[in-house]
Amino acid sequence: MSDFTLKPLTPDLWSEVAGLIHHSTNAWYRKHGFADVFQGPELDCQLFCEVYEQLDPGCCLIAIDQQSGRLAGSCFYHPRSSHISLGIMNVHPDYFQRGVGSRILRQVVDLADRENKPMRLISSAMNLDSFSLYNRAGFRPRMVFQDMLMAVPATGLEVQTPRAERVRPATMEDVPAMFELEREVVGIERLRDLRYFVENENGYWHVVVIESTGGGLGGFLVSIAHPAIRLMGPGIMRNEQDAVALIEAQLRVHRGYPVVWLVPCQCDHVIRTMYSWGATNCELHLGQSRGAWFEPAGIVMPTFMPETG
Ligand SMILES: CC(C)(COP(=O)(O)OP(=O)(O)OC[C@H]1O[C@@H](n2cnc3c(N)ncnc32)[C@H](O)[C@@H]1OP(=O)(O)O)[C@@H](O)C(=O)NCCC(=O)NCCS
Repeated sequence: MSDFTLKPLTPDLWSEVAGLIHHSTNAWYRKHGFADVFQGPELDCQLFCEVYEQLDPGCCLIAIDQQSGRLAGSCFYHPRSSHISLGIMNVHPDYFQRGVGSRILRQVVDLADRENKPMRLISSAMNLDSFSLYNRAGFRPRMVFQDMLMAVPATGLEVQTPRAERVRPATMEDVPAMFELEREVVGIERLRDLRYFVENENGYWHVVVIESTGGGLGGFLVSIAHPAIRLMGPGIMRNEQDAVALIEAQLRVHRGYPVVWLVPCQCDHVIRTMYSWGATNCELHLGQSRGAWFEPAGIVMPTFMPETG
């Protein structure tokens, strides 16, 4: 049986890791009777290397089969002052259930333990393999999200949302208030990420904010529009009405395309409104933590690109 060497990802292996993410994810979903998650070319998945290297240089571990030299697995992780998040994690199907995932995860968990930080991740509720991997390492489910999907008409949605007039694109001046809001509602800190979304150097990101009637920010919602993925999130809101207004603004950004976003399953008003707009459920995800957990004091809409919260 082969052994594996763990080492940080270097740029010369980006395209190989992109191929691994594409193949491993699609193979798992296909094997379990679901459609491919990544429907474009393998190189689209280089998005993960690009964005995560910009946000967290050097924070991807890869596993190499010592016997064959093949790439067997990869895992992106995101150290923040308040926590460490796990980003996308993949093992090549030829190496499934041979301990590669556990070996890589152990190294990140050890880092979190040394730094005495809680860990956070979002994982599919349909995937017993990833659930078991994380569960054995000490992660526990804390929240359930439904992934809502809509093919947004090219002409846009014909809806009129209360509070829409208080939604506007974010500017760099909003970033400190976004940071404070996220800290207050979710108990995490990720200033660099919020700045990165609003700066939008690579042109994929769209950020909208909603102003509170009493002044200050009531919420924000980010989305990414990239050939590999169209997702809304991360988003933080104080109440469901503001969440609906922000989602409606983001749906306008994605006119003519299918887009997915995660809604906490207990958000009755958001969910009913999304159904009335024609959204359907395409998956369920679990918000998990290892170690301390902060019960959200508002609405949280997480994402898996980038999975830094
Ligand atoms: C999820 C995935 C990363 C797991 O990787 P893997 O290398 O096959 O996992 P491992 O062999 O290390 O097994 C993980 C652990 O789960 C345990 N396990 C597996 N099935 C289990 C079950 N049904 N019940 C309890 N434990 C189980 C294994 O024993 C192992 O624990 P241990 O190392 O402490 O003994 C892999 O299936 C994959 O890449 N899937 C496609 C992409 C994906 O789903 N990524 C994760 C979401 S981002």
